[in-house]
Amino acid sequence: MPRSQKQFDLVIAANRLPVDRVVGPDGEESWRTSPGGLVTAMESVMRGREGAWVGWAGEAGDAPAPFVEDDMYLRPVALSEDEVAHYYEGFSNDTLWPIYHDVIVPATFHRYWFTAYEAVNRRFAEAVCEVAAKGATVWVHDYQLQLVPAIVRELRPDVRIGWFDHIPFPPVELFAQLPWRRAVLEGLLGADYLGFQRVADAQNFVRACRQLLGLPTKGDTVSVSRAEDSRRVRASAVPISIDYVGLEAVAKQPETLQRAQEIRESLGNPRTLLLGVDRLDYTKGIGHRIKAYGELLEEGRVSPPNEVFVQVATPSRERVAAYRELRHEIEGEVGRLNGEHSRIGAPAVQYLHHSYPRQEMAALYLAADVVLVTPLRDGMNLVAKEYVTCRYDEGGALVLSEFTGAFHELHQAFVCNPHDIEGLKQTIMRAIETPDKEKRRLMRAMRRRVADHDVQRWASRFLEALEVAPERPQRSTREQKADDEHARADRTARELHHARAAKAASAKATPR
Ligand code: ADP
Ligand code: F6P
Repeated sequence: MPRSQKQFDLVIAANRLPVDRVVGPDGEESWRTSPGGLVTAMESVMRGREGAWVGWAGEAGDAPAPFVEDDMYLRPVALSEDEVAHYYEGFSNDTLWPIYHDVIVPATFHRYWFTAYEAVNRRFAEAVCEVAAKGATVWVHDYQLQLVPAIVRELRPDVRIGWFDHIPFPPVELFAQLPWRRAVLEGLLGADYLGFQRVADAQNFVRACRQLLGLPTKGDTVSVSRAEDSRRVRASAVPISIDYVGLEAVAKQPETLQRAQEIRESLGNPRTLLLGVDRLDYTKGIGHRIKAYGELLEEGRVSPPNEVFVQVATPSRERVAAYRELRHEIEGEVGRLNGEHSRIGAPAVQYLHHSYPRQEMAALYLAADVVLVTPLRDGMNLVAKEYVTCRYDEGGALVLSEFTGAFHELHQAFVCNPHDIEGLKQTIMRAIETPDKEKRRLMRAMRRRVADHDVQRWASRFLEALEVAPERPQRSTREQKADDEHARADRTARELHHARAAKAASAKATPR
């Protein structure tokens, strides 16, 4: 394997580089920030740390030469047209993505897609080994690269290998459908430490190893023993977060506030501005949200210009059929609602299919009275954390699905089950109508949580866990107490929420 001139003690491998190469119609090349939560989080983690980032530059064909951006060494990996279709759009986003998200749409299985996945994972692993210094820390990310840990271990037994799962890890009953389940588990078990968003995700992984590979497990570790490889691999929860300080500073800039005011004015200064921000993905529950909002419009409980709903839908995976169909469906529904309920100068739903710079996103969050985060399943959902971070004024209200990782941390949100359209409508109305004083109390508590658990803390916790795996990192008594308290609060919040929902349901069912 060729040895690169440059080698690093920290190497990140993720499907995408933090920037995508875009070639305009005039042939001119430019770079723009890649979509998604992974890049948002890792970009701030890598700022100020010396390291290399191995990833795809977002276009089929030859890879650009390695380059340095924001002090980070970027090592592009090439994908051919066929590999984009089979490894990225196919196996990653039409096989694994649905299985890992509760099979909201059916998964597609093709043996040649897996062959491409194997080949691309090997290419990533070789690129990692080329830039990793002796004894380096290698941090692999997400479902696109689950075979990389084992290949890196085989090529470079001297390095320490961690993997973080940005999306949910499915229950064994769903994971078992995957014809290549054994290869995926064995690929991941090449790591020393595996990090997940929720405790349930880590437990699902450990259970899959026990039930599908017959490996011994104890607590959060799995024992792997082959002739020359006898180890314990630890899997635990380490929920991701955002750059609280950096984003809050953007929100506090006077130009951001001014832009937030302009946004409200241009929408006719509504009494309540509701906002959704998502990649246009069927996991995000955008259709359920629009259905609930449409019924509220029909019932006259909301109406423009008093209430305006802005939906930002970032273009995503547009060549995958399920995504094309989703776009068609959502845009049709938005058109119908606007035709029936908009007035001149006051849209019922303002739909934006674009990507925006960070400051514009912060202005949108500042302008929004209610943010609707209603995924059917989501690893974390950074939009929820970004919203509370931007609300340094303690204004606003967050409607949050209980099927997000964020639900386990942001206990003071207006919690919803997006499948329950009637319940979702009531929750949206509660978020609109709850007195400001109470909403400020809720927002203050959520902001405290995100401030104390920002992305830097997530990265340190992951790297600490990786360093000492399979042992657990030592925690100070104070830290342990805070974690225990949070776990208790999580259980209490869930129990309270479900008890409240059960009470409301039985009150409705009992005739008076
Ligand atoms: P996912 O990783 O599934 O896309 P997350 O909510 O965790 O979901 O992360 C989405 C990230 O993408 C957030 O940082 C959010 O601010 C950003 N984002 C979403 N929509 C846009 C957009 N239209 N323009 C710019 N950034 C966006
Ligand atoms: O966080 C989930 C995730 O799938 C990341 O892995 C990915 O970078 C992001 O969403 C955006 O998806 P894509 O890279 O397919 O555009």
